Amino acid sequence: MANTILVGAQWGDEGKGKIIDVLTERADIVVRTQGGNNAGHTVYLGKKKYVLHLIPSGILRKSKVCVIGNGVVIDPVSLVGEITGLAKLGIKIDTNLLISETAHLVLPYHRELDEQREILKGKNKIGTTKRGIGPAYGDKAARVGLRMIDLVNPSRFEEKLKVRIKENNEVLKAYGAKPLSFKKVHDAYRAAGDTLKPFVTNTVVYLHKAMLKQKEMLFEGAQGTFLDIDHGTYPYVTSSSTTAGGACTGSGVAPHRMDRVVGVLKAYTTRVGEGPLPTEDSQIADMLHGMGREFGATTGRARRCGWFDSVATRHASMVNGIDELAVTNVDGLDTLEVVRACVGYRLGGKTLDYVPNDVELLSRCEPIYVDFPGWKKSTTKARSWKDLPPQARAYLKAIAELSCAKLSIVSIGPAREQTIIL
Ligand code: GDP
Ligand code: IMO
Ligand code: MG
Repeated sequence: MANTILVGAQWGDEGKGKIIDVLTERADIVVRTQGGNNAGHTVYLGKKKYVLHLIPSGILRKSKVCVIGNGVVIDPVSLVGEITGLAKLGIKIDTNLLISETAHLVLPYHRELDEQREILKGKNKIGTTKRGIGPAYGDKAARVGLRMIDLVNPSRFEEKLKVRIKENNEVLKAYGAKPLSFKKVHDAYRAAGDTLKPFVTNTVVYLHKAMLKQKEMLFEGAQGTFLDIDHGTYPYVTSSSTTAGGACTGSGVAPHRMDRVVGVLKAYTTRVGEGPLPTEDSQIADMLHGMGREFGATTGRARRCGWFDSVATRHASMVNGIDELAVTNVDGLDTLEVVRACVGYRLGGKTLDYVPNDVELLSRCEPIYVDFPGWKKSTTKARSWKDLPPQARAYLKAIAELSCAKLSIVSIGPAREQTIIL
């Protein structure tokens, strides 16, 4: 039996969805443990494109069970929309999806507050996805959150929602925003609750029983290491634990039941939203955007782009305990004469080999690069390590070594078959 945690080793959008889809072939159960519908995980099957937000990417493979764990925050109306959308694409969802009864709800006042707080922050805004994620996790920590277990209990939901709408309407009024109608929110959420009720269960007990039956589990991380609430570039982060430990708290599966951690990273770096990105480079961004790549899967925003940053990925190896690396989007660098990797930061005459915690310092760090010869050849048809040009192999070996983990997967295109397992 092997339980695998998969995390993003950069700033999100590393290609986790694609790698999960590949790894699901050998797993029985795929579990989401944190985040909400701020996530956008893209998987291509043939010509069909699937963008998963709350439902684990494992759902695309028949006979696999997907679990939305207790650590996830769920917008039930959006989840029903996702289920309906997948059904239209031919993905049947019935007994293959389980939702934790203790997962917290994202409510319309969370979305409104997310928006209002961003407006108030002005130029210091985080650049959130406006999905209400921060306020929902805030309510969870403040112990005033509503959970799935409340949503499927009509009288309890009504009672709790009334109190929360009343308080939040006062706050919204103070922001100068429109108050919410209790009835509208109640009716929309109760309808979603009725649809979701058959999926709602005690997922901790389910996962433990499955473990006793030697089922293999895959924990699908959302966002990335540098968006982690503790280990990321605070305050330019999301509000959940995106690093490996989050898989345990967000599922109720103990740390010593986990067997390996796979870190997913791009052969370069991207970030959506505000906050420091030391290796940001406008030429790389123009090249990738010109190829029609690197637009956000959730909000459609153009992603900021830069060179590979091994100071960052080394930090990710450290906080996640990454054993193996999956490097994606190698093909994005196919046309370049020279490929660069950042190996250290320069700050005020000093050289740093770690990521400073102070975002102001991080934003002043200048990358120190090592240049590698480009391969100037398409890699998209490579199906084995030896099919890759020698320069690409040398670059991949170097970035894995610099990231202090073993290279185990190389992705050279969005399709399943464009994956090399080492
Ligand atoms: P996630 O949030 O980590 O699942 O990543 P996203 O789906 O938001 O963004 C990754 C993007 O890269 C998606 O459009 C994927 O289809 C795409 N992708 C993943 N791996 C590769 C690859 O090796 N090459 C190319 N060209 N695209 C890839
Ligand atoms: P996946 O799972 C990339 C970013 C937002 C913003 C910050 C906070 O697809 O990798 P939030 O709405 O969470 O309060 O926004 O985090 N962000 C992501 N960036 N990929 C994601 O998810 C993200 N989820 C949130 O852009 O900077
Ligand atoms: Mg994404």
